[in-house]
Amino acid sequence: MNVLLAGAAGFVGRVALELLNERHQVTAFDIQNVEFNGAIVGDVLDYAAVITAMQGIDAVVNTIMAPNLTYGENGSGFTVNVSGMYNLLEAARVHGIKRFVHTSSGAVHGGYPQPPETFLRHDLYPLKAAGPYALSKLLQEELAWNFHDQHGMSIAVIRPWSIIDSKTMLTTDGTVVEDYSWGMIDRHDVASALVCALEAKDINYECFYVMATPGGYKATDVTRTEDRLGWNPSITFDANL
Ligand SMILES: NC(=O)c1ccc[n+]([C@@H]2O[C@H](COP(=O)([O-])OP(=O)(O)OC[C@H]3O[C@@H](n4cnc5c(N)ncnc54)[C@H](O)[C@@H]3O)[C@@H](O)[C@H]2O)c1
Repeated sequence: MNVLLAGAAGFVGRVALELLNERHQVTAFDIQNVEFNGAIVGDVLDYAAVITAMQGIDAVVNTIMAPNLTYGENGSGFTVNVSGMYNLLEAARVHGIKRFVHTSSGAVHGGYPQPPETFLRHDLYPLKAAGPYALSKLLQEELAWNFHDQHGMSIAVIRPWSIIDSKTMLTTDGTVVEDYSWGMIDRHDVASALVCALEAKDINYECFYVMATPGGYKATDVTRTEDRLGWNPSITFDANL
């Protein structure tokens, strides 16, 4: 497939780019430069750039994230996440792209008590955000659902929690990981879940938790993700609830 990878310069995006490139023809899209033949430097808020980048594309994988979304700031990062998602979905609709894979977050259920008090099934309760980042992720999912519902787009949504690189033990912002937590997953396994979601058959609109700890399997329906996507984490962490 011809795949547009949005956010290809990021923590997850860089690894997803390598994996996707083994099996597909990839166009990398990011506001930062990516060392890759077929990279486009562009802003997701620039609709003209997005629609041009999607020329000849069969499927989109989105890993774009605006950094440091907190209360007490202007909404520019919020706009990147939410209006950027709209631009990607709308351009995909215009081009008749059928499969859209989006990287969401367990944060869409973060307004509920954390496990073990509450368990985070994909369809157990309405989405509930705590904080502006979570709210932007919730609204991204709402947009995705609407484009599926109104325009028949096949959309797979991946929900990781705490993504790390297990070789360097660093998080996306370069923080050193001190303790394993129940929501942990290696970025390579998030990337492999994105590839599985891209290639999965029979996706209408579905959300998939991905975690790699015993606690994560108890707290969410990761086994459902394994069954539906044929995915397993290659790196597991011994963290319980
Ligand atoms: N890192 C985590 O722990 C974590 C946890 C759960 C979910 N997620 C989700 O995973 C996805 C990937 O996260 P990440 O850690 O790789 O983030 P990241 O910040 O490393 O990468 C995001 C990429 O988006 C690009 N970007 C930002 N603004 C842009 C714009 N206006 N136009 C084009 N590109 C733009 C950045 O340049 C960057 O390369 C995000 O959707 C995030 O919400 C991350």
